[in-house]
Amino acid sequence: MTVSEVQERYPLAGGSGGVVGAALIGNIGQLAEPVSMVIFGITGDLARKKLLPAIYDLAHSGQLPADFDLVGFARETADAETQLRESVTAYARTPFDPEVWESLAERIHLVQGSFDDTAAFARLSARLAELDVRRGKSGNYVFYLSVPPSFFATVCDQLAICGLNRSAHGWRRVVVEKPFGHDLASSQSLGVALERVFPPSSIYRIDHYLGKETVQNILALRFANGMFEPLWNNRHIDHVQITMAESVGVTGRAGYYDGVGAARDVIQNHLLQLLALIAMEEPVAFDADGIAAEKIKVLSATELLGPLAETSARGQYGAGVENDVPVPGLADEAGFPADSATETFAALTVGIATRRWAGVPFFIRTGKRLARRTAEIAVTFTPPVHGSPASRAAAVSNVLVFRVQPDDGIELHIGAKRPGGGMHIQPVSLGMDFRSVFDPAPEAYERLICDVLRGDATLFPRREEVEWSWKVVDPLLDYWTGCGRPETYRSGSSGPASAERMLSRTARAWRTL
Ligand code: BG6
Repeated sequence: MTVSEVQERYPLAGGSGGVVGAALIGNIGQLAEPVSMVIFGITGDLARKKLLPAIYDLAHSGQLPADFDLVGFARETADAETQLRESVTAYARTPFDPEVWESLAERIHLVQGSFDDTAAFARLSARLAELDVRRGKSGNYVFYLSVPPSFFATVCDQLAICGLNRSAHGWRRVVVEKPFGHDLASSQSLGVALERVFPPSSIYRIDHYLGKETVQNILALRFANGMFEPLWNNRHIDHVQITMAESVGVTGRAGYYDGVGAARDVIQNHLLQLLALIAMEEPVAFDADGIAAEKIKVLSATELLGPLAETSARGQYGAGVENDVPVPGLADEAGFPADSATETFAALTVGIATRRWAGVPFFIRTGKRLARRTAEIAVTFTPPVHGSPASRAAAVSNVLVFRVQPDDGIELHIGAKRPGGGMHIQPVSLGMDFRSVFDPAPEAYERLICDVLRGDATLFPRREEVEWSWKVVDPLLDYWTGCGRPETYRSGSSGPASAERMLSRTARAWRTL
């Protein structure tokens, strides 16, 4: 997108008081410098399904720097080239163009070795130096750790042994993927291990939900429009629901998922990040420091509301259907023990101890094998307190919904008078569908990789955010440890009955899945 296209799309840009628009121009106009990007674990699942396709899409749209090289580091590189091509044809967003692929493939280099093999890291170092000389580059490197977290420290230590973590000329950045630990203590150790080798400003933690356009639009809607912010507080908001429902299960992912569960997998990171964006104050600047400062304030004021037996719910899918196809329950899937206590559904209630939010419950739920795939944030406003008894009875809830996916957009539910005699109020909705207004958005990984190359850390959670989020989730995980196995719910349903009770106790109901 060119700067003038941005200005057209974000009319505030450059105008007086157009802080949001101005920041967007800053982000998009800045071009990446020549760089070599190393992906550790290039033949792994994440690299094949997300990273390589995103890099191809960036190449397709001309967003990679001219002097870009990709170095894949893996234990086994024998048929890596074929695998990489296949991953691009299968998963890229844009159509496969042999010319784009050929020119990218020429810039892909492979280094074979294990993550604790110092000789392999010395070969990597030599290869990077050779690419710098060949292309006249100044030694800017991104190290993408697409490896299980148990290898983070090993890879970082090897990079340090070979001196690859620092440079007198170029810059060095390291990218890590969640999970950032298993709980607060392990997350802190991970933070220490990374910061032993790289300064905090060089560490990019990926939370791919922050790369989704609709998620970024939360801030645009709140702060680029004057009409919502005056209502954005406990005087006008009754409660907030954050839902991430998936129709698929965890078949084939037992190695990662068993013992992790829904709360660690997505609530600790994606969903608490959404909460932070919904609840934070307007930042002084829409840049990495400004946004992180406000998110940290909100997360540090966020606390579980109890009693947990009533304000939380936990479930594990049993047999049922996945997209109308009969499927077995988790305990019968390969890799999961029959008595697995791993939850595939989790719901909790949090409050935010600030003047703006005191008394407003935030209900958060996520689950696998639910009735449909959806991710959304629904802000329910307090019903009117004035008017005749009849109009009060007829009032409907005003709900503002951010539809993150699918069908990303924004909808506002209001009440309207039904035509004819009397005052019969009917819920109706006003909607905005991003796809009908804007060009197709880039995939989250395209945006995030592009930002790493440019050195823009705005969309990457900081260590403090990660640690505050663990402080929210840890007490619930501890509580569940003493509760035995989770309640079974039918695959294809809307989750366990305890989740319904959790809300009905507060005289509210979850939005229908
Ligand atoms: C990942 C989780 O972070 O997000 C997965 O580990 C989950 O369990 C995935 O399926 C969902 O991502 P998206 O973008 O499809 O909503």
